[in-house]
Amino acid sequence: TSSPSFIVAIDGPAASGKGTLARRLAATLGFAHLDTGALYRAVGLSLLRAGHAPEDGAAAIAAARGLDAATVLPLMNDPALRQDVVAVAASKVSVVPEVRAALLDFQRDFANHPPGGAPGTVSRGAVLDGRDVGTVVCPQAPAKLFVTADVEVRARRRLSELRNTGAEAIYDAVLEDMKVRDARDSQRAVAPLKPAVDAFLLDTSMMDADQAFIAAMDFIRSRPAFP
Ligand code: DC
Repeated sequence: TSSPSFIVAIDGPAASGKGTLARRLAATLGFAHLDTGALYRAVGLSLLRAGHAPEDGAAAIAAARGLDAATVLPLMNDPALRQDVVAVAASKVSVVPEVRAALLDFQRDFANHPPGGAPGTVSRGAVLDGRDVGTVVCPQAPAKLFVTADVEVRARRRLSELRNTGAEAIYDAVLEDMKVRDARDSQRAVAPLKPAVDAFLLDTSMMDADQAFIAAMDFIRSRPAFP
């Protein structure tokens, strides 16, 4: 029998750099990567496409229950998921407890049986990034990181991302949106954004992506269960 999957749980607020970090860690370690926010975005996108309001809880629950690996995995790299209206819809559907419950099994299954590069193979480990991976989805993960940065720094990063895609964006509006999303994600009743008690806190306000990556790798390699 094979040894259990080594799970790296990365949580943090919007535009903290956790997605970039998670992808790079997974590539370096040869682990599978799951962007758990993409699942909530997929629910948000399917509501918007069906003409439902993102506040429609019953429609959100039905959409979340309808997602499976076959529909979700091809969506992961769809640029439609990255739109700000979809991020806001995702943040709204994610407060519904039944939506969160419907997405749990998929995330846990991915963490415990991470797909390998070739069909039918498994990886030695998984990197999952989101808001509640270390606290709710995989509380037993041997490596938990909480990646954060000052809200002004995150707003500036998001602003330059948006401008790079050719979108017109105003700093004050981006900052305001970021604060609203932070508040909704950290103040909801179920699985709010917060560091696990044993998470390694990585504040990237004064770091670039390379520095964050090195600090994260040092922490992960220092964990006793690291393969
Ligand atoms: O990480 P992201 O920006 O793609 O996430 C979009 C929204 O999905 C986020 O505002 C809240 C929700 N989310 C969540 O509730 N739990 C997660 N593990 C990941 C995302």
